[in-house]
Amino acid sequence: MTVGARAQQWASPLVCRAMGKPRVVVAGSVPEAGVGLLRERYTVEVAQQRPRDALLQRLPGIAAIVTPTAVHVDEQLLDSAGASLKVVANFGVGYDNIDLEAVRRRGLRATNTPDVLTGATAELAVTLMLAAARRVAEADAIVRGGQWRGFAPDQFLGHGLIGATVGIVGFGRIGRRVERLLRGFDVRVLYADGSGSGYDGPAEHVAMTELLAQSDFVTLHVPLTSETTHLIDAVALAQMKPGAILVNTGRGPLVDTAALIDALRSGRLAAAGLDVYEGEPDVPVALRELPSTVLLPHIGSATHAARAAMAKLAAANVIAVIEGLEPPSPLV
Ligand code: DGY
Repeated sequence: MTVGARAQQWASPLVCRAMGKPRVVVAGSVPEAGVGLLRERYTVEVAQQRPRDALLQRLPGIAAIVTPTAVHVDEQLLDSAGASLKVVANFGVGYDNIDLEAVRRRGLRATNTPDVLTGATAELAVTLMLAAARRVAEADAIVRGGQWRGFAPDQFLGHGLIGATVGIVGFGRIGRRVERLLRGFDVRVLYADGSGSGYDGPAEHVAMTELLAQSDFVTLHVPLTSETTHLIDAVALAQMKPGAILVNTGRGPLVDTAALIDALRSGRLAAAGLDVYEGEPDVPVALRELPSTVLLPHIGSATHAARAAMAKLAAANVIAVIEGLEPPSPLV
């Protein structure tokens, strides 16, 4: 059964037995599509993610918490919730914000929201490839600032995606979806850091160094772990094709920001399209001042449909665990 079908099953009020009113804290403005499902059954409190201390004060006695990925779920947070806590439902597919070992040690469940945001995130990666290559942000700023003096043959020349070589680092759900979306651009696709099992499309599996050396665009779709932190460091950047474009819709720490700034300043890279940053939401001034960057505020999954589906799946996960059932998308 797919994650979606299981979510549907456990979200049905029919499977929710009357069981008193467990308390659920939703940290942040999670869409009503999911929060409403929780309200039908439980006492739901919507709390701000920040400041953290205020959030922690809301947690004693809760059965579940829905956590956007900006909330660090660590020993301190789990201690604050106490023995009543059953499940941490991440509102997001990435779960580097959760100390899964701590969750496991306490016999709790943790869940995430895979699949439902794959298309939206892949779409944003392609958006950033095009926007960075065609200098969309820079050109938009000129028009918006009233500085455009009319068509000029040499204005805002950029690079094309059609016919380019694209390197996809991480070939899971989102990486594979990017490959499918790119088919209309007649690109050559290389991928690294993924087994490719069950894949029989046109993309070629290559070593990371080969991918970096051959790709005009490199897009990152690996989870953040201790092994992938600074995967794109000064060494990797130096291995990239001169004039290449880097896109990151995964997690900020996949890229060594200082090294990226150097590579952009020197012109070694033509551009970068970023949706995520080290130390979010702080974005270094040097990165913001570079004309060759397109900078978005972590909106990979931000379509109405994807966010509503994420909210429903997070709610279905909470409901299943509180009901004593297997959640649709468990991590632990
Ligand atoms: C995710 O789902 O992991 C997105 O990055 C939102 O945090």
